[in-house]
Amino acid sequence: ESDKEKISIGFSQSVDDDIWRTSMNHAMEVETSLHPEASLTIYNANRQPKKQIRDIEKFIENKVDIIIVSPFESDSIVPVIEKAKSKGIPVIVVDRKVNTSNYTAYLGADNIEVGRIAGKHIVSLSKGHANVIQIYGDLTTSPGLERSLGFKQVVKQYPGIKVFDLDSDDFGHPKPNYVKLLDSLPNIDYVYAFNDLIAYNAWKIAKGKGLENKIKFIGVDGLNGPFGGIQFVKDKILEATVLYPTGGSESIRLALRIANQEIVPKNNKLNTILIDSLNADIMSNQFDKITIQQSDIEQQQKIINDQEKKYSTRSNLLKLLIAL
Ligand code: FRU
Repeated sequence: ESDKEKISIGFSQSVDDDIWRTSMNHAMEVETSLHPEASLTIYNANRQPKKQIRDIEKFIENKVDIIIVSPFESDSIVPVIEKAKSKGIPVIVVDRKVNTSNYTAYLGADNIEVGRIAGKHIVSLSKGHANVIQIYGDLTTSPGLERSLGFKQVVKQYPGIKVFDLDSDDFGHPKPNYVKLLDSLPNIDYVYAFNDLIAYNAWKIAKGKGLENKIKFIGVDGLNGPFGGIQFVKDKILEATVLYPTGGSESIRLALRIANQEIVPKNNKLNTILIDSLNADIMSNQFDKITIQQSDIEQQQKIINDQEKKYSTRSNLLKLLIAL
């Protein structure tokens, strides 16, 4: 099939300098390769809201059949999403929410639930008495805000739990004040960080001060593989992580259903779950199986592509011979 006849999916990724985002992109590529009728183009906005708007503009100009957006900011992106919709291009929003309801579908896990799961885990381990540092990622984003809301809803019911807030740089590296705070509060029992990377960075700081066994670290994301949260739990760096699936393959499947004129739910919820030492092995085994299947599929796809190439050169050669 030539690319013209294919269902063209444009995916606007907000950043791709962390493994959560790169595994989301990868899952999308693998899922697309399973559907020969579909093609996928990914643009990365590199944390620049203006670039993300331009990327989506480009998808509109190129008349893609459907747009998937993982927004960096929830406000500045609204007009271009509405523009795509007004031109008849369906838009799927993944992960971070946008401040309009003028899109086709949203897909992601419930971040309030993520926060509640982390809160309940700390309550149950500490029996309601603990000093906790909450290191949040950007509170202007819906995951940032909701991970904090859900957590506070739970822990505020326990007066014995004291929460100290710390900021991290857009879900990335800890700000300098964070190191100071770990110093000034030696009686910290738990750190709840808004993703596994922040939790790991906090653990490294604590380790430098010989406090890594005194404090229990809880993160969010629960990716499988090296530097993923599941491995951190297995290595006893993190006490637990809360699974926050990327939605990569699910969003491609949803895009294809929409492109095929199916009616889909507006809100598509992905599941979340606590991963600690009790289930980390089971979880990573399950994810490993999926990865093996995926690489088998990629392998097969490569063989098919090579065959197709060989076949088309052979048939071109034949045509040439006949013409002669
Ligand atoms: C990756 C990330 C994840 C987090 C998500 C929230 O860029 O920070 O760790 O779950 O974005 O938008």
